[in-house]
Amino acid sequence: MKNTGLILFSIVIAMSVYNPSIGQTTTEERFVQKADSILSLMTLEEKLGQLNLPAAGDFTTGQAASSNIAEKIKAGKVGGLFNIKTAEKIRDVQKVAVEESRLGIPLLFGMDVIHGYETVFPIPLGISSSWDMKLIEKSARIAAIEASADGINWTFSPMTDVSRDPRWGRVSEGNGEDPYLGARIAKAMIKGYQGDDLSLNNTIMACVKHFALYGAPEAGRDYHTVDMSRQKMFNEYFLPYKAAVEAGVGSVMTSFNDIDGIPASGNKWLMTEVLRNQWGFDGFVVTDYTAINEMIDHGLGDLQTVSAMALNAGVEMDMVGEGFLTTLEKSLKEGKVTEKQIENAARLILVAKFKLGLFDDPYRYTGAERAKKEVFTPENRKIAREIASQSIVLLKNEGSILPIQKKGTIALIGPLADNRENMTGTWSVAGKFEESVSLHDGLKNAVGDRAKIIYAKGANVVADSLLESRVSIFGKPTYRDNRPASVLIEEALEVAKNADVIVAAMGESAEMTGEASSMTNIELDEKQRELLKALLETGKPVVMVLFTGRPMALKWEDENMPVILNAWFAGSEAGDAIADVLFGDVNPSAKITATFPQNVGQVPIYYNHKNTGRPLPEGEWFQKFRSNYLDVSNDPLYPFGYGLSYTTFEYGDLKLGNTDLKGDQKLQVSVNLKNTGKYDGSEVVQLYIRDLVASITRPVKELKGFQKVPLKAGESKIITFEISTEDLKFYNYDLDFDWEPGEFEIMVGGNSRDVVKGKVNWVK
Ligand code: BGC
Repeated sequence: MKNTGLILFSIVIAMSVYNPSIGQTTTEERFVQKADSILSLMTLEEKLGQLNLPAAGDFTTGQAASSNIAEKIKAGKVGGLFNIKTAEKIRDVQKVAVEESRLGIPLLFGMDVIHGYETVFPIPLGISSSWDMKLIEKSARIAAIEASADGINWTFSPMTDVSRDPRWGRVSEGNGEDPYLGARIAKAMIKGYQGDDLSLNNTIMACVKHFALYGAPEAGRDYHTVDMSRQKMFNEYFLPYKAAVEAGVGSVMTSFNDIDGIPASGNKWLMTEVLRNQWGFDGFVVTDYTAINEMIDHGLGDLQTVSAMALNAGVEMDMVGEGFLTTLEKSLKEGKVTEKQIENAARLILVAKFKLGLFDDPYRYTGAERAKKEVFTPENRKIAREIASQSIVLLKNEGSILPIQKKGTIALIGPLADNRENMTGTWSVAGKFEESVSLHDGLKNAVGDRAKIIYAKGANVVADSLLESRVSIFGKPTYRDNRPASVLIEEALEVAKNADVIVAAMGESAEMTGEASSMTNIELDEKQRELLKALLETGKPVVMVLFTGRPMALKWEDENMPVILNAWFAGSEAGDAIADVLFGDVNPSAKITATFPQNVGQVPIYYNHKNTGRPLPEGEWFQKFRSNYLDVSNDPLYPFGYGLSYTTFEYGDLKLGNTDLKGDQKLQVSVNLKNTGKYDGSEVVQLYIRDLVASITRPVKELKGFQKVPLKAGESKIITFEISTEDLKFYNYDLDFDWEPGEFEIMVGGNSRDVVKGKVNWVK
């Protein structure tokens, strides 16, 4: 068979390009025509092959693993492969597809490039805290350059699942609880990955996931049931996916969960009515890992039934499960699916390959030279350090203990203090874990011979060894110390007694968040807390550096620790970036994008909640027959949008350009912002709106704008926002998207709680 098909196929493609009857066509239309030419040569089996996406086996997730991949590729039964690393390996596999399959159709090569490739940036929840769209786009751009230099042409990112549940391990992979911010970040990421021209060899196709609502599983348990009203879907959870479609994302991944009783991968309303018909998505839909097969366990029938259901719903590509490959022919014979549907699906995948330029040069992304020059470079690592330092959130700084000075003796204590492998956080599959910068490395690099750094582990990440064994998979060891906890604490106190200041590196390890890493207890492990108590008793200043992939419940820490610096998992340059902040070389400016609860019982707790018919009056803690708890106030520990700086900012009164508006008028909102402290710094100024009376109940506030403003010490600046009726629109009871006249509260502040307010009346 070698190459004969390829020749025939090149002629057909060439004919389609030069066919004078085609006339004036767009690039997109030309790709469709070319794909149709190829389709005309394909057998049913080859068409089905395009819909098949096996895992390559460098590593796998989930249950199924594909075998005999090369044989399948030769037989035309594979459309793409994922999670195979290095340009050389990918080139070899592409060669099999191009030279040894009948038609020589090149493969897509996908990977979970979630927050960087080898240069790892902060986890998405961390990087979202920077509120810096330029930096976020840059992180995706660098990820695309590195991944494409190493053979990858498709990333399973961005993940834009809104989540209000810190128990859910994958809260770390998203952008927090806010749909507006999530939508802005989705756009920035897609721009970074795809650029303006997907066919360039340093841009890659993005895949927004997990469509839809994956971030709202019941009880925060991964893969659990999702049940939600349509209003909530459209007004709150759908926005970031929709923004991704508007930004031209090339592919969409289905979610595992069910929606209104039908899992996403078989849900026609979701995949066809919403995604294609309402939003106009023109790329292809891939399932999540074995998501079609999982519909058997969801209770919807055998593999043939659920595979036909997925195709009928509007799914084009089957990740790992091979239900499409093995059952659709039978379903076709039985009239359960049509050949047209199979062709439509194959066409969209072929078009994606045209967009990526794979038919012009299947080896476009696999030149071995680029990988050596463009991956994990000092320049990329420098930018990763900058982005990391912009993502670290100062939660508390009593007595301005931070920044500390590079002098004297600094005791570095804690289970995350000297652990390089955990710095990159979850879903960092291409990362070079051992080459990450630990906090211990970072402190030493920063002080040189100006100060002495002394170290003790002090505690394990979790006292329970069984739990710890569950969270140290994926090559990120926690280096358990099996001596009794009291011995570890004693040892730490011995070290700490010689110090001027103690830096306590506490929290969770990288895989305590991420897929299938849900937790019901989101507090610090009890032995870590005992260690903190012992360190506090020394009377020395203790700076707690927190490593976490979720908003933890830190009530005790907030009450007892003078300083809490939340480093998240800041990526390959974590240690240097944290040191930059600790020593004041960088003034922290990040703000949390997910509410930190007082305790897990408050979950889900989020700033943009509804008012209820029995709201608690502002400033009150408890009232009988009001919506509150007996044992804890409704307040979060740290509200959405919160984060401190080494300087302080003062907001003047809100100035409204107009308080009575009509129709398409624009509202100017401004506030005087002053840096009242001693340091230069940046403030994330946030704009919120409340629709006071509407035809359906509306949130008490919704983010509608933000600006990150740098101000020198003592400097003031007028910050202005412009609001239009677009910002007032929402999906009403009938799911029509429009604004309703009436009163609106306008709020501006440095977090979602502390705001200056004004009110306007806006008529049609
Ligand atoms: C995850 C996806 C991921 C896929 C491929 C699944 O288990 O849910 O987010 O893209 O695996 O690795």
